[in-house]
Amino acid sequence: MTRRDNQGRTPIRRVLEAGQKTTGVRVSGWVRSVRRGKEVSFVTLNDGSCFSSLQIVVAPDLPEYEQVARVGTGACLTVSGALVASPASGQRWELQAESIEIVGAVDEQYPLQKKRHSLEFLRSIAHLRPRSNTFGAVFRVRSALSFAVHQFFQKRNFVHVHTPIITANDCEGAGEMFRVTTLDPQAPPLLEGQVDWGQDFFGDRTGLTVSGQLQGELFATAFSDIYTFGPTFRAENSNTSRHASEFWMIEPEIAFADLAADCRLAEDFLRFLVRYALDNCGEDLEFFDQRIERGLIKKLEALLAAEFRTVSYTEAIALLEKADLDFEFPVVWGNDLQSEHERYLTEQVFGGPVFVVDYPKQIKAFYMRLNDDDRTVAAMDLLVPRVGEIIGGSQREERLDVLQKRMAAQGMDEGALDWYLDIRRWGSCPHAGFGLGFERLLMYLTGMENIRDVIPFPRTPGHARF
Ligand code: 4AD
Ligand code: MG
Repeated sequence: MTRRDNQGRTPIRRVLEAGQKTTGVRVSGWVRSVRRGKEVSFVTLNDGSCFSSLQIVVAPDLPEYEQVARVGTGACLTVSGALVASPASGQRWELQAESIEIVGAVDEQYPLQKKRHSLEFLRSIAHLRPRSNTFGAVFRVRSALSFAVHQFFQKRNFVHVHTPIITANDCEGAGEMFRVTTLDPQAPPLLEGQVDWGQDFFGDRTGLTVSGQLQGELFATAFSDIYTFGPTFRAENSNTSRHASEFWMIEPEIAFADLAADCRLAEDFLRFLVRYALDNCGEDLEFFDQRIERGLIKKLEALLAAEFRTVSYTEAIALLEKADLDFEFPVVWGNDLQSEHERYLTEQVFGGPVFVVDYPKQIKAFYMRLNDDDRTVAAMDLLVPRVGEIIGGSQREERLDVLQKRMAAQGMDEGALDWYLDIRRWGSCPHAGFGLGFERLLMYLTGMENIRDVIPFPRTPGHARF
């Protein structure tokens, strides 16, 4: 058997972090560029372990010289040699190659030839874009922040719950579920002229979850503090830069908590994640700061220093009415806030993060706790500049009779949610929670303006190819 290519390989990140003269270094990666000099050739090699590539110096006395000097961008190489201080500017260290193996060749059809491609073009090659600088940085930050999410909650002794992906309940009540069925679409069984879902695989009408919240609430009334972190699916046909049909959401649920406690947790959580990114993703954030959103790092530092403000929905409407601006959507008490309204509030009025709380009950989900005014519910949205709504949450209705009334008012069938009502029947307690859209967080942290560019393989209306 031939030796495995990656045996004894050292990640380039570790090579550069160690930063000392070393012999017998072996790295593997993909060629970012080749420069043929008069005396030697230079290959920059990237293995994704960090933003930086490693400069490989290829001298003509190497038996593979001619072959390597002709190798194209994108080829996969394994290189052994000595790490030495680089005499040239641009990098501190370089690897003087002693042997090079071309593990995987490329031809000139390889689409990532140019130094800078448009994000639209890179989206059309989602299977190759992780090999670009921008997407390398995006997906490293994504990975780091995914770990940070767990760290935040685990340190606070929250229990992590895996809520189901397939469910019979439309939590948000917006009817935006993707159907899950094994029935024959040409000839489904019928009952009184309607599809008989009772004969479907699960004996019920099921779909992909829009939120893990309802099941999360059940666990919160046993473990007190829980969180979920999983994929959620919404079949809404909105082609915006902030909506995906499949996205990841983090949903904590806390018992013995009201809306104010919920907001405090959301604030602590967002601050922690921003701090984590600044402390752990410096090299990638610097790239975003230079190439994607000028002043990004300052913006993130400003968030850490900022006071998180709170306004009621009613106050927010008054502020919007006073705005010296023509909105596309009318500002009317009782209508949901549109993205343009949210951005105006957080960018123009407050210039920082702001919680909007106490929304009219008719525009919010059935589970939100009814306020004493009987018109609003204890809901909160956290708005941040550029992104708008990054978190949505509420205190939950823990009073059985009030919840039943709201469900009836919304024409909901109690039977399907009897299990949800049970926790109000037995040992009910005040509780609250929220959902943070993981991609919205990443957009905020990286400055990337399109949600399609912060998720590895975006699913949006008409697109599920890769
Ligand atoms: O405001 P939403 O719909 O709230 C819920 O789903 C609640 N069940 C959460 C809870 O209280 N446990 O969604 C929460 C967050 C939004 O603030 C937004 O960041 C993100 O999820 N989000 C989306 N992200 C990407 N694409 C979409 N289509 C999204 N819809 C919501
Ligand atoms: Mg929302």
